[in-house]
Amino acid sequence: MSPSSSGSARKIAPATGKLGVLTVGLGAVSSTLIAGVELAKRGMAAPIGSLAQMGTIRLGKRTENRSPLIKDFVPLARLEDIEWGAWDPFPDDAYVAAQRAGVLEGPRHIEAISDTLRAIRPMKAAFDREYVKNINADNTIGTISKRAMLNAIREDIHRFRDEKKVDRMVMIWCASTEKFIEPGPAHRDLASFEKAIDANDPTIAPSMLYAYAAILEGIPFANGAPNLAVDTPVLRDLATQKGVAISGKDFKTGQTMVKTVIAPMLKARMLGLSGWYSTNILGNRDGEVLDDPENFKTKEESKLGVLEHILQPEKYPELYGNVFHKVRINYYPPRGDNKEGWDNIDIFGWLGYPMQIKVDFLCRDSILAAPDLVLFSDLAQRAGLGGIQEWLSFYYKSPQVAEGLYPEHDLFIQLTKLKNTLRWMMGEEQITHLGREYYDEV
Ligand SMILES: NC(=O)c1ccc[n+]([C@@H]2O[C@H](COP(=O)([O-])OP(=O)(O)OC[C@H]3O[C@@H](n4cnc5c(N)ncnc54)[C@H](O)[C@@H]3O)[C@@H](O)[C@H]2O)c1
Repeated sequence: MSPSSSGSARKIAPATGKLGVLTVGLGAVSSTLIAGVELAKRGMAAPIGSLAQMGTIRLGKRTENRSPLIKDFVPLARLEDIEWGAWDPFPDDAYVAAQRAGVLEGPRHIEAISDTLRAIRPMKAAFDREYVKNINADNTIGTISKRAMLNAIREDIHRFRDEKKVDRMVMIWCASTEKFIEPGPAHRDLASFEKAIDANDPTIAPSMLYAYAAILEGIPFANGAPNLAVDTPVLRDLATQKGVAISGKDFKTGQTMVKTVIAPMLKARMLGLSGWYSTNILGNRDGEVLDDPENFKTKEESKLGVLEHILQPEKYPELYGNVFHKVRINYYPPRGDNKEGWDNIDIFGWLGYPMQIKVDFLCRDSILAAPDLVLFSDLAQRAGLGGIQEWLSFYYKSPQVAEGLYPEHDLFIQLTKLKNTLRWMMGEEQITHLGREYYDEV
């Protein structure tokens, strides 16, 4: 046992065999994720941006010099063991999807793995234009009842498992943002949810059917978009009951990631904020979907939520009691996936003197895709951690938390939580950063 090990590691099933990764949606994010992992597997690219692959974790005291790579410290699935499956209403295989998305350079990053990408063909999607108006494509299971959609998703999962001979699976929603739906009576408990499915209730979106299918099949579910999907009382409870790992909503990759670094800085130094105007231009398919006000509303709620929780205006009314916060997304086709996000931040300091911060993030939206959520969700599942995985908040704009808790949005609190969870899983001591021992022992 190491000097600082607490000795009570969790029992974690080994990552033997293949891990099936089912992406709902085969667009810019998923094709970039798949291509990146396939290139990394072949040693043709470094997994830059992946904490799970490139990050280290300090164990014990600073004097112990123990900082292994996270992937050597916890038993993660190997990238080599991943098998891909996907659903999409567009029939394009991953090769065509990657080319269409226009994120990656063809010769270097698409052609080099073309055989693998061409072999990933989307299954027919459980799709309904009622929820995503700006997509019109027909690789779908058609306009059938919600019950039939649920059954079709489950059959696809079984077929994928048998054909690819995978031992475990993870499902990740990388599909378009659905229109705004608030949790309601249909999402309260299993009886109401089942009844609503049979009644084709409009508050049951396709994302909820995918999430429900995943939980019923014992498959961890991660949601890259802001639509509810698994974030309802019924599916949260079911995931806990069935011991299935779920985490949050809406990948935190660009403007909001920056926001959750700058806002804690202002609060840490007790600097005031009077306004924060965030605007974006982007021209990919995601931008087109978000051009519809009903779909944008879902995204807006997710993007707006973070400041309120970080700044706690109720505790600091003079500093944050009157903040004007606005988020805009503008569809601008010439930019494609090369989004530009501007932030104008009006702050005030000593004696109330105003100052400004400007951020211009020339962000390649989908280039921030990494396999971490998939690998960590699989780890959680093998470690017997069912229900909400708050330690994965790090990756989300809208983390999921237990009822009655406020979410932690500060990126570095989230990172500490993630790493301490890994230490806890492996029976290592938590790092509190108190550090008295270096002085008391002298
Ligand atoms: N790019 C990022 O960094 C980022 C960050 C945060 C959130 N997101 C979210 O991730 C999601 C994917 O982004 P993207 O840029 O890949 O978008 P995209 O439009 O390129 O891909 C989404 C795909 O999902 C498909 N789809 C829609 N409904 C479906 C359904 N019911 N079943 C199966 N497939 C369906 C669409 O046909 C499309 O091909 C979006 O919701 C986006 O808001 C992306």
